[in-house]
Amino acid sequence: EALAVTAVAPVNIAVIKYWGKRNVELNLPTNSSISVTLSTDDLRAITSVAVSPQFSEDLFWLNGELQNLIGSKHINCVNILRKERALLEAADPGLKKLSNWKIRIISENNFPTAAGLASSAAGYAALVFSISKLFELDLNQTELSKVARVGSGSSSRSLFGGYVAWQAGNLENGDDSVAVEVAPVSHWPNMRALVLVISAGKKSVSSTGGMQRTVGTSTLFPARHLKIVPERMSQMEDAIRAKDFGSFAKLTMCDSNQFHAVCLDSYPPILYLNDTSRAVISFVHYFNEYYGAVKLAYTFDAGPNAVLYFLEEDSAQVLSCLKPVLPAAKIPFEVDEGPSGFCFD
Ligand code: DP6
Repeated sequence: EALAVTAVAPVNIAVIKYWGKRNVELNLPTNSSISVTLSTDDLRAITSVAVSPQFSEDLFWLNGELQNLIGSKHINCVNILRKERALLEAADPGLKKLSNWKIRIISENNFPTAAGLASSAAGYAALVFSISKLFELDLNQTELSKVARVGSGSSSRSLFGGYVAWQAGNLENGDDSVAVEVAPVSHWPNMRALVLVISAGKKSVSSTGGMQRTVGTSTLFPARHLKIVPERMSQMEDAIRAKDFGSFAKLTMCDSNQFHAVCLDSYPPILYLNDTSRAVISFVHYFNEYYGAVKLAYTFDAGPNAVLYFLEEDSAQVLSCLKPVLPAAKIPFEVDEGPSGFCFD
């Protein structure tokens, strides 16, 4: 006897960055953030979970390799959901005692893991979403975002499609540190994103380690998380609601640059961008100047890879400029609707 569910979850790329934790154990951030969820066709995690009374231990394979679950964030997420299931079982003795069964998790993603391409975001979102379906938990996306957050902060935002905010919250236990929808895909469907993979190597400094270093040493950081990000959060929400691409793009670029500035201001400095990343930054500003309007934005996470945002109506101009230098540039991603799942018995 076994029960299984498979779920797909998308990647999200922040336009107002999460950088800094007030609680490392629970991944509670020092500031709120906003992201756009990218299409699941090319960048996604697919996770199958199965439980059976015949399984003798919890097992987890990531991209075909058996992982150590002991003490991992993955098992922390599983155990939070097991507790939720146990509550249902206590209330209804007719339910199968799935909370006592061991679990097998098989997860695959189709993009470079730990290359600053938000692989953990899609991975934990798919894990949490699939287990919630398997356990038939009555938790909405915001409630699930809290569980995914414990795995990886940015994954809280991958529970929703479209335009998503992760509210930092104030509570010590993290109950108000959750993701909410700013706008669905249908609100601004002509947004496009292009990922320029500059290097598929591992991050030089992990997000957690980097954030701790910034929180502990950057003297510019307090101004960012206490004053500037709160202002930008509301400006970005307004830009998305008004579908004002010029403001969206400018805020996105400024926030990416400030995130990398506080990284440089950390000691020892954290350097995620390389010369190619900086050439992309110059190219985008040149492009916008040439067309006399802000039509293109860049953003960089904890690595050198660029994500460009632009509107469908400008995609011919963007792609024709990029083609000669980047023959591998792919069809732009659309904004996605969020995780989806299916189950087998
Ligand atoms: C630069 O979510 O990977 O991409 O909570 O330690 O797992 P952990 O960090 P993670 O950090 C992402 C940082 C970022 C900005 C962002 O996605 O908001």
